[in-house]
Amino acid sequence: MKRILVTGAGGFVGARIMEQLMGPAIEFLPFPPGRMAGISREELCELVLRLQPNALIHTAALSDTGHCETHPEESYRANVSIPLWIAEAAREVNAKLVAFSSDQVYAGLQDTGPFEEDLPLHPANVYGRHKLEAEQRVLELLPSAVLLRATWMYDLPGYGLPIRGNLILNLLRAAMHNEPLRFSCRDYRGVTYVRQAVENLLPALELPGGVYNFGCENDYDMYTTARHFCTVLGITPPLEKADWPRSLRMNCRKAREAGIVFDSTFDNVTRCLQDYGVSSLL
Ligand SMILES: NC(=O)c1ccc[n+]([C@@H]2O[C@H](COP(=O)([O-])OP(=O)(O)OC[C@H]3O[C@@H](n4cnc5c(N)ncnc54)[C@H](OP(=O)(O)O)[C@@H]3O)[C@@H](O)[C@H]2O)c1
Repeated sequence: MKRILVTGAGGFVGARIMEQLMGPAIEFLPFPPGRMAGISREELCELVLRLQPNALIHTAALSDTGHCETHPEESYRANVSIPLWIAEAAREVNAKLVAFSSDQVYAGLQDTGPFEEDLPLHPANVYGRHKLEAEQRVLELLPSAVLLRATWMYDLPGYGLPIRGNLILNLLRAAMHNEPLRFSCRDYRGVTYVRQAVENLLPALELPGGVYNFGCENDYDMYTTARHFCTVLGITPPLEKADWPRSLRMNCRKAREAGIVFDSTFDNVTRCLQDYGVSSLL
């Protein structure tokens, strides 16, 4: 039986890995919850050596971009040092490593994309810079590692799983309280139903080492995307147009050619509602 160690198993993505992928052929081992933030390199290595996993899925991170901006040392430890220690430990036990990066590595590019993985990058925020440095240094240490540049992800609350601020929830909250939400007509990014990302993690374990854009593509700006989500949800929150420019828009051809396929951002939200059985109610 394959043994996969999951870091951040109590987090947004990690908890869904534990719930969704558990099956007879694979044993998922949750990294002890709450330990990651204060762990030392030695403790981490000792734990991995003791558990002897065949693979590691590293989701633990400090992923609040605003917090990273004001706490760069904390971000560096969480988003660069710990991934490097994880890579060292994976190398020690000869385990495959799949680790999450982010579309924020593309922040600051002037073009609107869609961007491929091999573009030279200078991320405009601390979180993006640290994620990029982690990608590069993990791959130097462990060329078989797979680094996934994830889009912003969403889910509906339920099943006792942790939830975090996401597009679908922000829209539902705005509709319930009739509060205006602003989206830029010049902001481009994919948005992904987290359960499709989790579903694609098992095939990601089979990818050759490297960096992969990983999520739903989206050719529409965020104002149009938010309006589409509202139509599908059957809600009419007050959406306001903004005009600031940004593009984190990814071209996911590399993953697709390796067999990892996502819906488009527009189709993906319909699938989310179908999963929860709410599309028939709307
Ligand atoms: N969610 C998104 O929309 C999104 C978008 C793009 C990329 N990503 C990336 O995808 C991965 C998973 O995201 P997520 O939303 O599941 O993250 P999350 O829920 O915010 O956090 C995952 C886990 O990280 C650990 N953690 C918290 N603070 C930490 C610190 N200071 N140092 C080290 N570990 C810490 C915690 O694990 P323990 O409780 O076990 O300590 C937490 O449960 C991350 O690498 C994130 O950067 C996420």
